Amino acid sequence: MANDRIYNFSAGPSMLPLECLNQAGSEITNFGGSGMSVMEMSHRSKIYLSIFEETKENFKKVLNVPDNYSILFLQGGATLQFAMAPMNLMPRTGKADYAITGNFSTLSYKEAKKYGTCQVAASSEDKNHTYIPKQSDIKFDPEASYFYYCANNTIYGTEWKYTPDAGEVPLVCDMSSNILSKPVDVSKYGVIFAGAQKNMAPAGLTVVIVRNDLMGLEFPYTPVMMSYQKMAEKDSMHNTPPCYNIYILGLVLKWILKQGGVEAMAQLRDTRSNMLYDFLDNSKLFKCPVVPEDRSGMNAVFTTGDKELDTKFASDATKAGFSNLAGHRNVGGMRASIYNAMPVEGVSKLVAFMKDFEQNNS
Ligand SMILES: Cc1ncc(COP(=O)(O)O)c(C=O)c1O
Repeated sequence: MANDRIYNFSAGPSMLPLECLNQAGSEITNFGGSGMSVMEMSHRSKIYLSIFEETKENFKKVLNVPDNYSILFLQGGATLQFAMAPMNLMPRTGKADYAITGNFSTLSYKEAKKYGTCQVAASSEDKNHTYIPKQSDIKFDPEASYFYYCANNTIYGTEWKYTPDAGEVPLVCDMSSNILSKPVDVSKYGVIFAGAQKNMAPAGLTVVIVRNDLMGLEFPYTPVMMSYQKMAEKDSMHNTPPCYNIYILGLVLKWILKQGGVEAMAQLRDTRSNMLYDFLDNSKLFKCPVVPEDRSGMNAVFTTGDKELDTKFASDATKAGFSNLAGHRNVGGMRASIYNAMPVEGVSKLVAFMKDFEQNNS
């Protein structure tokens, strides 16, 4: 890594591949001989449309998105999807199922309740969201318009390792914090959405993948900007899309392809997360509260059990070049977010630092 860079363990916005940042830097005032920055291009221009199309095609390729799905590049963050999914899908039966496994699924559930009857089909609240409900623990309503879950719980450090089977009921999934980190069978889903700022691009872009037959069902009052069908008809260009973010996503997708695709990303995530969890499980000082089988490959949470020592750890770590390791304010402790762009050496160096800290503080 360039020696003026730190290992940034932020939960998001987070590290982007250095190669992509360097390329964006080299093209920032003159993209491809155009004499313009991508930031300065009309979104309707031929040159920008070629970036847009290539990015969409590469997204389809990287995640193996079937032809009967539309890929939308929207704004409003993942949070807008908390309202957009019910506004578009709820009218089918007026009911929806939610799995509550952390902060973001709770927020999404609260938002959706404005648009229909929402059932908590499963919850991990009884154990402070330290596990993921099993398929047999979920109370599916066969009449639900959709079943909603959050694939990776960024704050609590848990991840669904299986795709829930809701029968004919379409799955709506928030993949903000694990998209592009492993292969996904998109055909099992109705809607997948993700804010860009963890594994894809700067904040401001939200990627939504919608099965085409689920479009056109929205409430009549749904704003154009929030209608999957309208946005798909206009190829995400009803208004000016987040052009520069889409270009950065394009660079990141090319980087992923060069590394060997999402299969290679999955191997890297296993290497990084196993290294960290193996250390935590053998540590006398640090503990991970999450049950081993549901631990996230993207966000590892841990604690010393002593608030003051946790604070000292995060502060010493920052001085040593490992930033943003303090846990989320809702849960405390520490959290290391180890997304696609985190080099393996960043995690091995963090583990070495943790070993030293353990020796000096226990
Ligand atoms: C899983 C998950 N969903 C939703 C959000 C909210 O995303 P946004 O800030 O893009 O609205 C986040 C943000 O960290 C997240 O981690």
